[in-house]
Amino acid sequence: MSRVAELLEALAPIGRNAQGGYDRLAWTDADAAMRRWFLAEAESLGLETEVDRNGNLWAHWRLRPGAGMVVGSHLDSVPNGGALDGPLGIATAFAAIRSLQEAGDAPPSNLSVVAFVDEEGGRFGLACLGSRLATGAVDPERARALTDRDGVRLDDAMRAAGVDPDGLGPDPERFRGPYVELHVEQGHLPIDGSDAAGLAAAGAPLGVLSGIWPHGRWRIDLAGQANHAGTTPMADRDDPVVRAAAVVLAARDAAVTEDALATVGRMAVEPGAVNAIAAVTTLWLDVRGADEARIRRVVARVAAEAEVEPVEESWTERTDFDPMTSGAARAAVREVTGREAPVLPSGAGHDAGVLAAAGVSTAMLVVRNPTGISHAPGESAEPADIELGVAALVRVIQRISVYGVVAPA
Ligand code: HGY
Ligand code: MN
Ligand code: MN
Repeated sequence: MSRVAELLEALAPIGRNAQGGYDRLAWTDADAAMRRWFLAEAESLGLETEVDRNGNLWAHWRLRPGAGMVVGSHLDSVPNGGALDGPLGIATAFAAIRSLQEAGDAPPSNLSVVAFVDEEGGRFGLACLGSRLATGAVDPERARALTDRDGVRLDDAMRAAGVDPDGLGPDPERFRGPYVELHVEQGHLPIDGSDAAGLAAAGAPLGVLSGIWPHGRWRIDLAGQANHAGTTPMADRDDPVVRAAAVVLAARDAAVTEDALATVGRMAVEPGAVNAIAAVTTLWLDVRGADEARIRRVVARVAAEAEVEPVEESWTERTDFDPMTSGAARAAVREVTGREAPVLPSGAGHDAGVLAAAGVSTAMLVVRNPTGISHAPGESAEPADIELGVAALVRVIQRISVYGVVAPA
């Protein structure tokens, strides 16, 4: 079995649920097991490990003073997520380092692997929390006060996991060199300059992302009148679940009209009794698209048509990855696959996007996902494609250093 396959196999039981998916939400026991795996693997490679002020994990291959390149991804998942979104980037990074070490081929700059904490926001609602904190994109006070669906505050969850939340805050010194993230392909988005949608249709095992679509999350709170299911005439009801249904339908219509994507993937119905009309329903609306204007129009249409007031919980600008670092990634893909790298956008958010928005020179590689399914147990990639991903990452590490993209100390 290849090195990267062994690494992924070691992770396979962690946080696995009865549906075959993964529950590895931030600061849970499963997340802690993933984090222990990271530190143990890094140590077995002789790397220096560190937990930064925001709880992000680091493994450093320090060769000389000065800045270096960073590769990485995240270890957390959405509820019932797939095996690869996040861990693939970490496992391939470790496998690439092993490959360099075995070849006696140290990169000419320092190299660090980072596992950003809470990329999915699956527990506390705000995605890319570790990179947002590190770049100063979110106020630490706001982060500490985020709560999960059981009302547990983020700072308490961190403390329970043994990390001091008082330290949260910007950490820009860590990102003075370029950042490269390898990820499983998510969806089958159109490839630039081609009719193909997705790497499978293009017959390509690897691709390079051009950038990330803008996206945001909104919360909609609907209050009604709780009452008995068996005694309240239909005409007399003020049922917030019925209004929630109108929101869902309005979101779908608006997204189709605007050629955008709108999702209500989470809804809370309180108090949640089968035999009672709900008192309150809360919906979370995720909207994405090629540009900000159409996203704003979707949200405005939902507000007008369903007569609700969406409250913005997060907004992420469109980000374009750096041409120089992406050029190194494209060259690496060309070398290992023998063909030009397909370039495609991402509808999914990534820590790489947060870093790019903060001015870090960033690129992303993607590994073909035959079905495109992600954020669900069906997420997959072929072992041979993952191997090519490791080989490309090795080349990127070598090439970026060779091309002198690394920021001077
Ligand atoms: O795209 C997302 O929802 C997350 O940032 N991965
Ligand atoms: Mn994800
Ligand atoms: Mn991810």
